[in-house]
Amino acid sequence: EQHILKTLPLKNKKILITAGPTYEAIDPVRFIGNHSSGKMGIELAKTAANLGAQVICVLGPSAITVTHKHITVLPVTSAAEMFETVKTHYPSCDVVISAAAVADYRPKQVSDQKLKKKDGDLSIALERTTDILRWLGDHKDKQYLVGFALETENELANAQGKLKRKNLDLIVLNSLNDAGAGFKNETNKITLIDHKQNIQTFELKSKTEVAKDIFEKIMSLLNL
Ligand code: CTP
Ligand code: CA
Repeated sequence: EQHILKTLPLKNKKILITAGPTYEAIDPVRFIGNHSSGKMGIELAKTAANLGAQVICVLGPSAITVTHKHITVLPVTSAAEMFETVKTHYPSCDVVISAAAVADYRPKQVSDQKLKKKDGDLSIALERTTDILRWLGDHKDKQYLVGFALETENELANAQGKLKRKNLDLIVLNSLNDAGAGFKNETNKITLIDHKQNIQTFELKSKTEVAKDIFEKIMSLLNL
């Protein structure tokens, strides 16, 4: 019994992780997206599952396939779809990690026919999507909430602002300034900031190793 609890510290925990990009439709054949591969979120899902958690991965369009006995993948396309799926599962979750690169804007009108080109320039009106993580922070019950922050300037201050604004327990600052870190890479360089403003900086390492560092921190904050 003691041994099982030690080796599977996240046993009986339900963890939801969002991962990947979102695609916001312009017309039936075009969308606005981003370069997120989904890799960081998927590595977090695998790490959580290996630590004994029951994992739900809400995954935007990604080339990576996940097969793990304790990971349920719920594929979504748009920010709106991701929001609906996350809301459904939120009440039953113990931990939520928002690793997805959610679009901040979507086309105001989605054309049901393919847009035809015309002479001159084209403008597409965009409207804000829901900030999913902020909504989760505003509706927090018992959940432990972890966000990411992707910054290119004023990194620490911006990340601390997001931690507060979104009512998070922990934020993972992801620096795009470091060569080899971020979106399309296999490696990442992170800084962890918790709600007590403890700041911990890590070396550049594989996303698998980064996922372990993040869970080590989560488990210590949860006294697991
Ligand atoms: N996020 C979200 N829903 C959105 C936008 C972002 O859940 N519509 C989440 C991301 O998954 C991430 C965190 O919010 O965990 C921060 O995302 P980021 O893009 O760094 O910050 P924003 O709050 O969107 O602000 P900005 O892009 O202007 O820096
Ligand atoms: Ca954003």
